[in-house]
Amino acid sequence: MTTQAAPAAAADRLAAALAANRASPSAARERELINLRLAAFREREWPDPVPGAIDRPPATSCSSLPEVPAAALDAEALRDGIQGAGGLIVRALLDRTTAAELRAQLDRAFAARHAAALDDGSPADERWYGRASGVVGGPQQFASQGKAPQQAGSLWAVDSPATAFTLCELYHALGLPALLAGYFGEPGVLSARKWVLRKVPPKPTRNAGWHQDGRFLGDGIRTVNLWIALSDCGEGASAPGMELVGGREPVIHPTGTDGALFDWTVGPELVERLSAERPLLYPRFAPGDALFFDHYNLHRTGTGPADSGFRYAVESWFFAASTAPAKQQPLVL
Ligand SMILES: [Fe+2]
Repeated sequence: MTTQAAPAAAADRLAAALAANRASPSAARERELINLRLAAFREREWPDPVPGAIDRPPATSCSSLPEVPAAALDAEALRDGIQGAGGLIVRALLDRTTAAELRAQLDRAFAARHAAALDDGSPADERWYGRASGVVGGPQQFASQGKAPQQAGSLWAVDSPATAFTLCELYHALGLPALLAGYFGEPGVLSARKWVLRKVPPKPTRNAGWHQDGRFLGDGIRTVNLWIALSDCGEGASAPGMELVGGREPVIHPTGTDGALFDWTVGPELVERLSAERPLLYPRFAPGDALFFDHYNLHRTGTGPADSGFRYAVESWFFAASTAPAKQQPLVL
């Protein structure tokens, strides 16, 4: 008599699928990796949330963000930066070669999305643009209304399975699981909705609004956003950067008031009042430089009159696993 073996846990299947894809990458394997990361999150028992466990008082001065080299990045530096000053810049988190390779992957992903939308009969480039069966929801705001998506804009990382695979390998090589566990006191997880490849045109067609991501993400969350520049951008560069209100104030500001253009943005008049105490910052980033902040950070895409090039970046929101909202479609790292 034979007994039926219990199906392997998603975490075990994920480890096996990762090994297989390293040996022989394919679109089918890379899509399955996304499904297994989603399933592994759902299957695992996470600890009870510990709200406020990591809070520390904001620093008094916020005239610039603290900066550390990649070798000095640890949970303590992250805590001091995010909770003390509102953010932390890590110079050369990626070396130039790795940044250039990632940038090429983003180009390929946006080109594959564009080709898929044109649907002209040419074979689909499914490793670079293709949806895993476990991902739900349409990133409507990421496509042009009723038209084929352009070869720029924003794209969910999970919708480019090869890029998602590369990024997760990179995050492990950088030691992010241990860094996030040290910061959160529990594992950090990604999410399908807030893990985004960005290729911002030099002259955005609509004014990017001031906002706090905490406005959209749900209650009781603890987060770390890792934003990695893949272009020279920001102050004095020729591509749009990231403009921030310095300092940390753990409150969600009103939106749709004070001259705001949209109901989800913080009005420019309110930002101007805040800037009396908290200066506006427009850091310069080189390809491979990173910025860490959390859901209280007030920021927008910054632009300059001399901007002439695209700004490439990868945005990865990590949630303390016990606080990750299901609607964000959490994935294990
Ligand atoms: Fe944001």
